[in-house]
Amino acid sequence: MNNCPIGIFDSGVGGLSVFAELIKLLPEENYIYFGDTKNCPYGNKTKEQLIDITKSILEFFRTKNVKAVVMACNTTSAAAYEAIKTNYNFKIYPIVQTVSGYIARKNYKNIGVFATNATVNSHAYKTELKKYNPNCNIYETACPDWVDIVENELQNEEKSIQNVKTHMDEMLCNNIDKIILGCTHYPYLINVLKKFAPEDLFINPAEYFAKAIAKDLKENNLLSGIKKHEPMFFVSSNPGQFKSASKLFYNVNKAEEISVNQLLVKYVRTKFHDKPTA
Ligand code: DGL
Repeated sequence: MNNCPIGIFDSGVGGLSVFAELIKLLPEENYIYFGDTKNCPYGNKTKEQLIDITKSILEFFRTKNVKAVVMACNTTSAAAYEAIKTNYNFKIYPIVQTVSGYIARKNYKNIGVFATNATVNSHAYKTELKKYNPNCNIYETACPDWVDIVENELQNEEKSIQNVKTHMDEMLCNNIDKIILGCTHYPYLINVLKKFAPEDLFINPAEYFAKAIAKDLKENNLLSGIKKHEPMFFVSSNPGQFKSASKLFYNVNKAEEISVNQLLVKYVRTKFHDKPTA
């Protein structure tokens, strides 16, 4: 079991900001990354769509015999994790729920959250942070264009910079102590964000997330002793663009295209029997 792979997924390159931290801490693990570029962006999808997509990805990872899956996606953590969390015999780590305790314990008074529409509408960060620090004030703002900016490498376009500025101007009116980059794509915008505020105003939750995962795997005696293969990358469309957009966090050399729709069909066919064939 210990040498089985760790699955990690997101709608595209965003989850690589988490993967980059994880591989630093746990270089001996065997990783399988899935970027669901065909269904990107997740942030504008309904809760039901996100649950179905998440289930199909978890079925894919089940076929890869994973020991754990890292939900390197705030949107599915916020909208789908609760609905699926008990259905699998491997560990599932959701980013929002895993990092909120660490952030809340810093006792910041006013915390901003930049995230996708679906994450903001779920108020998952607000709910989780207030569990640990009921007195903090949370200001959640959706930035619906940022994922496309990152996936299409438009960070340096004037229009993108103006878009970031508009959200920053609005957020900074709240006397903010810290801003959580509550979508794993947003750390790719750090060079733009820091034009409008000091870099240390921003929290990239990936660092806390990777530490928590490493700690939990260790406590459960699930760390790998043998690295059997280099990280493997799968996407549901456009592997070339995925490789190109990945650069800031991890240089992906090879990404293989697989069909998530096919997985979804397989899942729908088998879900009434509770025993996927895949
Ligand atoms: N990067 C993901 C997140 O952390 C999903 C973004 C999207 O596809 O909208 O929420």
